[in-house]
Amino acid sequence: MKNVISIDQFTKQDIDNLFATARTMKTLVETKGGDDRFRHKVSTNLFYEPSTRTSSSFAAAMYRLGGQVISINDVNYSSVSKGETLEDTIRTLEQYSDLIVLRHPQVGAAKRAVQASQVPIINAGDGVGEHPTQALLDLFTIYEEQCKIDGLTITLVGDLKNGRTVHSLAKLLSLYDVTLQAVCPESLAFPPEYGKVINFTELTDVLPATDILYVTRVQKERFDSLEEYEAVQGSYTVTNRLADTMKLSARIMHPLPRVGEIHFDVDNNPRAAYFRQMRNGLYVRMALIDMLLS
Ligand code: NCD
Repeated sequence: MKNVISIDQFTKQDIDNLFATARTMKTLVETKGGDDRFRHKVSTNLFYEPSTRTSSSFAAAMYRLGGQVISINDVNYSSVSKGETLEDTIRTLEQYSDLIVLRHPQVGAAKRAVQASQVPIINAGDGVGEHPTQALLDLFTIYEEQCKIDGLTITLVGDLKNGRTVHSLAKLLSLYDVTLQAVCPESLAFPPEYGKVINFTELTDVLPATDILYVTRVQKERFDSLEEYEAVQGSYTVTNRLADTMKLSARIMHPLPRVGEIHFDVDNNPRAAYFRQMRNGLYVRMALIDMLLS
């Protein structure tokens, strides 16, 4: 695999190999902090949209493998503000780096970048399209928390129309034997091109049978008006009272950031897995970089 653009590129075997590497990365970080395998390698984080976790975990992953990172996190201070095309920006950065991690507001931007680039491109989110590396760390987290994927009931909650993480995750889960449920306002329904889900409107109806509750933020930046956003924001809030109606073995996940859809009290609930999920992002991204640069 030369680039990571869509979750469609991954077979079950690829995923097993990647997760085996991610586990060795975890041990490596825990025992030695990292190693020097990519000394003198440089990656670029090119982010046209805000990011905390994705950009910093990709940077940390590169540093822990001995590499260096060029970070362009505010394109307003780059030549993009002078009107440079994505293609020309990519052609520039490939002169200086061995890998480009790209986040862009347009669906298909990562694919365009691949056409322009000689170095590997990783899609770190293309608008309302996909976020494949998030889906991989989500699946890795489900494995780590439940020790299996087949047989699980997984419930996606929130903005399933605009949330790119659930698009990639649903595609990825279609490789497994899972029951995939969706709870969302009608106007934020899950687009069928990303897979099949069983739709519900009430969270309370699905919680007792759910093994993984995957909560998402209503994607404010994708709405045409504040009124339309406010009409659906806050439709579902996970509180401790609700969380406690779930099995004790169930886990609550969230790609983060959260803006109210998981109450802070839930952080101490034994079912809360979203902080470990973030940590797993480091190991999975180390494994992805290793796969592309080795
Ligand atoms: C997500 C994203 O950017 O799509 N964040 C992330 O990468 N962890 C989710 C979101 O912004 O809601």
